[in-house]
Amino acid sequence: MSAICLIRKFSMKSPSRFHRSLLFSTFSKESPPDLARNASIRRPYSSSISGQRFVSPSIWRFTQPNWISEKTRSISVFSIRDFSTSIETIATDKSFERIQVQSGLIVEKIHRNEEETLDESVSKIDVKEIEKSGDEIVETIIGGKVREESEAEKEAWRILENAVVRYCGSPVGTVAANDPGDKLPLNYDQVFIRDFVPSALAFLLKGDGDIVRNFLLHTLQLQSWEKTVDCYSPGQGLMPASFKVRTVALDENTTEEVLDPDFGESAIGRVAPVDSGLWWIILLRAYGKITGDFSLQERIDVQTGIKLIMNLCLADGFDMFPTLLVTDGSCMIDRRMGIHGHPLEIQSLFYSALRCSREMLSVNDRSKDLVRAINNRLSALSFHIREYYWVDIKKINEIYRYKTEEYSTDATNKFNIYPEQIPPWLMDWIPEQGGYLLGNLQPAHMDFRFFSLGNFWSIVSSLGTPKQNEAILNLVEAKWDDIIGNMPLKICYPALEYDDWRIITGSDPKNTPWSYHNSGSWPTLLWQFTLACMKMGRPELAEKALALAEKRLMADRWPEYYDTRSGKFIGKQSRLYQTWTVAGFLTSKLLLANPEMASLLFWEEDYELLDICACGLRKSDRKKCSRVAAKTQILVR
Ligand code: GLC
Repeated sequence: MSAICLIRKFSMKSPSRFHRSLLFSTFSKESPPDLARNASIRRPYSSSISGQRFVSPSIWRFTQPNWISEKTRSISVFSIRDFSTSIETIATDKSFERIQVQSGLIVEKIHRNEEETLDESVSKIDVKEIEKSGDEIVETIIGGKVREESEAEKEAWRILENAVVRYCGSPVGTVAANDPGDKLPLNYDQVFIRDFVPSALAFLLKGDGDIVRNFLLHTLQLQSWEKTVDCYSPGQGLMPASFKVRTVALDENTTEEVLDPDFGESAIGRVAPVDSGLWWIILLRAYGKITGDFSLQERIDVQTGIKLIMNLCLADGFDMFPTLLVTDGSCMIDRRMGIHGHPLEIQSLFYSALRCSREMLSVNDRSKDLVRAINNRLSALSFHIREYYWVDIKKINEIYRYKTEEYSTDATNKFNIYPEQIPPWLMDWIPEQGGYLLGNLQPAHMDFRFFSLGNFWSIVSSLGTPKQNEAILNLVEAKWDDIIGNMPLKICYPALEYDDWRIITGSDPKNTPWSYHNSGSWPTLLWQFTLACMKMGRPELAEKALALAEKRLMADRWPEYYDTRSGKFIGKQSRLYQTWTVAGFLTSKLLLANPEMASLLFWEEDYELLDICACGLRKSDRKKCSRVAAKTQILVR
């Protein structure tokens, strides 16, 4: 029997960043799925990454495993979430996790029994069936698909393992890049929240949940950090872009490891990473779905973390639209590229984070208003994107014939788009079949560039209608040479050139045309593309792209990005051994090999949401709601 103790103090004060980092040294040890919740799901067969799995080649036999360290630790942590005195459900299985309140302190005790040492010699992916009998969960292979790993996959796993960052002995994330030749790693030696997502999925799909659980809990602690740029603080709930494990001297003889987050105060451009919190929520759901350990998302601190992110996103402002208003560089494209306003990438991540939160938040008196706000926003956001962001040949022709300066509530050209704004390249480029969602929409401005991540994630999260989702993949197929080319996948298409490059990027030498964020090709995007293709029943498209990548990635030493119109060259300033390149490749492989797992990671159309209409709720006596008028064309087609 081993145990871990976690003590949280109630405090109204937030300690300084440094002190705070000293206060929570080791938060949790390796924590595998709460298997008691997992009896009905199927899991992939797994070998060990960290040497701590508990599987055998033909049968999984779980007793309550020993995934908690021998040591018992007491840690004090001050944070916003500690202000709550409520202790809701933390775990369903009492023998797995218990919480007590003792004189102003929450003392959380987690007990686990010893684990069996099991064989970990097989590293293939099999589909298994899980049965629960008494205290044991028995998993057997059912028609197991045994797949040999290619040389590239084997090397990718080695690189991914080497990229693992440990904090007080526990794996907590992966560094962005591990390029031995890089003399100036800048912040590429940090764990980026967004970069870790494909690593996390690769680990989860291989059966290793520990690193993901640790990552989720540690980044949760960072969420309530003090953060200021020149005496100004962003809203509570912001998640960092990245963090680093530093060793600091406590005195002459003792050192301590601390986590040092970057919320944008050190980042190039000083931009707050809006996508981090959204990815955190998406990963939290994925962790629950794949491992079956729902106790993590039920914890009070985790529930508070979700609420803080949602409150920040749903805060009232001056907005007229349900889309999230952000500055340039607040997502994967983290420097100036003219995507400030309402970029599609943020909207699609926002939409899926809303859907995840709706699924994970426990509904009670304190959360019911937030849940209502989430439902209303989901409904308004999907309508707005489906109706106003969608372009295909027919819509472009409509815009081409738009009348402008329409002053009325029922204008056709609501955003006052001047037809001259349609870029000449688009007229020739748009295929007869297919369409896509615009990169951005503002008054008198449509960004007609095709942004891959936003479009793929709209498919995955069902932000687009089923027909739109299908049409996006048709467009990729029709424009294969432009979007996939020699190396999948273009981050956006086409590049900003000449004066556009000079004015919009601020003459950024890293973002020259057809390089880096300015239409460079990013192999990490393969995993989102794969998921989108699988959801739409077109895995062959993903397989084709993956085969192209596999031909070059290992030989090219896993670059961060590729340059040129067709993705022919390794990027000018591209890091080598970039972790999310490696992880994106592995995750795509694992998803394709295991469609049942993939299906846990995407969302189908939610017809309930389509019926929610905020105007109706407010009994507005305005003219007929435009949503009702549009319903038959946009929502259900
Ligand atoms: C670059 C990318 C960003 C990524 C970071 C670390 O800044 O633009 O999306 O998170 O590198 O890989």
